[in-house]
Amino acid sequence: MRSSLLLLLLIPALTASAQPRADRARNGRAGADRAGAERMVYLDATASVDARVEDLLRRMTVEEKIGQMTQINYQLVAPYGGWSSNAVTIDAGRVREAVQRYGVGSFLNGIAVPARTWIAYGDTMQRVAMAAHRLRIPILYGIDHVHGANYLEGGTVFPQEINLAATFDTTLARRMGEVTALEAVALGHRWNFAPILDLGRNVRWSRMYETFGESPHVASRLGAAYVRGLQETRVGPYRMAATMKHFLGYSDPKSGWDRTPVEVPMQAIYEFFVPSFRAAIAAGAMTVMINSTEINGEPVHASKRLLTGLLRDELGFKGLAVTDWEDISKLVNLHRVAVDEKEATRMAIDAGIDMSMVPMSFSFPVIMRELVREGSITEARLDLSVRRILRAKFELGLFEHPMPSSDYLANVGAPAHRASALDAARASLVLLKNRDGVLPLRVGAGGANAGAGMNAGAGARVYLAGPGANAKRPLSGGWSLEWQGAAEERYPAGMKTVYTALQDALGAGNVTLGTSGDRLIQQSASASVIVLVLGEDPYTEQEGNFYDLTLPEAQRTLIRSAKATGKLVVGVYLGGRPRTFTEEMGLLDGFVWAGLPGFEGGQAIADVLTGVANPSGKLPFVYPYGPSHIAPHNHKPSEYALTEKRVAFDFGDGLSYTTFAYSGLALSDTLVASGRAVTARVTLRNTGSVAGAESVLWFLTDEVGRITRPVREVKGFEKVTLAPGESRTLTFTVTPDAMRYPDADGRPVMEPGTFRVTVGGQQARYRVR
Ligand code: NOJ
Repeated sequence: MRSSLLLLLLIPALTASAQPRADRARNGRAGADRAGAERMVYLDATASVDARVEDLLRRMTVEEKIGQMTQINYQLVAPYGGWSSNAVTIDAGRVREAVQRYGVGSFLNGIAVPARTWIAYGDTMQRVAMAAHRLRIPILYGIDHVHGANYLEGGTVFPQEINLAATFDTTLARRMGEVTALEAVALGHRWNFAPILDLGRNVRWSRMYETFGESPHVASRLGAAYVRGLQETRVGPYRMAATMKHFLGYSDPKSGWDRTPVEVPMQAIYEFFVPSFRAAIAAGAMTVMINSTEINGEPVHASKRLLTGLLRDELGFKGLAVTDWEDISKLVNLHRVAVDEKEATRMAIDAGIDMSMVPMSFSFPVIMRELVREGSITEARLDLSVRRILRAKFELGLFEHPMPSSDYLANVGAPAHRASALDAARASLVLLKNRDGVLPLRVGAGGANAGAGMNAGAGARVYLAGPGANAKRPLSGGWSLEWQGAAEERYPAGMKTVYTALQDALGAGNVTLGTSGDRLIQQSASASVIVLVLGEDPYTEQEGNFYDLTLPEAQRTLIRSAKATGKLVVGVYLGGRPRTFTEEMGLLDGFVWAGLPGFEGGQAIADVLTGVANPSGKLPFVYPYGPSHIAPHNHKPSEYALTEKRVAFDFGDGLSYTTFAYSGLALSDTLVASGRAVTARVTLRNTGSVAGAESVLWFLTDEVGRITRPVREVKGFEKVTLAPGESRTLTFTVTPDAMRYPDADGRPVMEPGTFRVTVGGQQARYRVR
């Protein structure tokens, strides 16, 4: 049967003006339905979620249950070519068919459009879908707002997670979650596919920038803060669900390429990859997305041990587990652990999947029906998953408030939100090198850096060059307006590049934009300092796979040419992973790792370069010295004696325009009973002449362990702002949990022995009896 294809052209201008009243009317009608159907417990908002779930479940057919477990991509109902700022063309017939014929309960994704267009789209999708469903079950719409409202034209786009990690500030991670919910949830985006809780331990991986860096402790605290910010925010009756992803171990592919096999012993899985998920579960994360790859020969989507044993039984996760993209069919055509999609589906369901992100066909519901008919999957098994899905829908208030609303449009891109994104971007920039105080750039009578030591002089100016100097795309990376980052012209007209922000800061006449690397020597003749904005173009997933971590030759040549002018040279690095340029790094007088600071990044970089903002970021990963040596700070003991230089910059490196001194590290005990905590104290003082913020990083080393122990691990951090001359005493409690480590089966072990606490170059030891 072919359903009639009705093309609805959405006209947001019309829809929007009538929207607020229409929303109220529609949401009010749900109340009327309730009154008319007293026994419909599932429609009664005053009943408990459990009672509503059970009531609805018992009314549902097998086909309807399978439909709830099915997630379909937007392209099947609103083709790619039909998206424009003003309207999205929806094939309403296809939506109806998806719901009536397959029972589809969830859709995902899209392309950035303005809020009003999202509302009109979401409104039509939901209206058509609910009308088509016998029980009027609303759809749940999922999207990847992974660094602020990055799929919303006019939305606030934060730095990527790797930058958030560099801030070492949980309040900023929380704020990113809050702002995302505030801007997007009323547009119909009730399910956000963030945070990414994988670790950036393998810098060759194309998604490293989507992580909170290499430390399980940092990822745990920032991830949990993000989950709380996102899920605890209410916008009228709306709230958003977070997704912990990608469970688990996705981020350390042996080949370095995305979606390639991971071989990591279970002990290391527990030690490094479990903690961030454990913390997000404790923070209440409602959903989880599964890792597309295999671990130790076992595709995670087919692993009952990981998806039921570890995730549910051991970690106690009760929410909804969705596959990643096409991952059931990939059990057949990528991993080859199943002969056909039917076998793959049975395996994934048996392993513990609740919903299949199919998402480009309706194969899943068709196959599932067969499996249930044959008795390979029981209805009780369906119920287990459907309960979790319905629970999420009830908890999100979808039954009472299924429609998007235009009552909250003022939230989109609100000045306070953009100010937070700018704060986060500034706090995330890491000043790694500042020879003779080349930074901040100073503008005196003669131009930039007049009066600044070496490069003082009349007519001093900034010469700006490099691929990122006057571009928006490299500031924001992948997942910006589109999957791979949108084309340059799609970014907001008002978004500043490094060039335009520096012009505003220093005066247009003091900044020259280089047009050609070849003519750099002539072009920069009147400049006193050359700033090179280096790095990468946006990418994500497999599109970011590459052969060489080394910075491309053209950019290394640019550094050499700049140095050959005899002028001061400052490098700014924009990119998703630390590209190496060992030799040329030595030529730079100043170097700022800027990562992917988002839409406010151009401004933030100019602020740091000119000293309007004092840098306070620290590296949340180790910046490799060369492409062939990759070892996170918490690596295992290694024979490095032959090599003098191991890393370009270490985890936690980061300078300020002021100086900080640590003194008086003292422990509450030097001999403690097993299972007792130890408290460490240290005094931090701002010894420079300007105010500044310091990320205080507490490291712990277990000096002897039966299973080799990381040489050091960050186990605590805190961001402290101090005025010049001000000092503060800080404490860090080493909990028994922080002293334990997992054995090969993941059981926490506490061994007697010596532990070393390190902070700001100070160290102290204690012994556990
Ligand atoms: C695939 C990516 O791996 C995942 O992170 C994302 O959430 C889904 N696609 C949906 O876009």
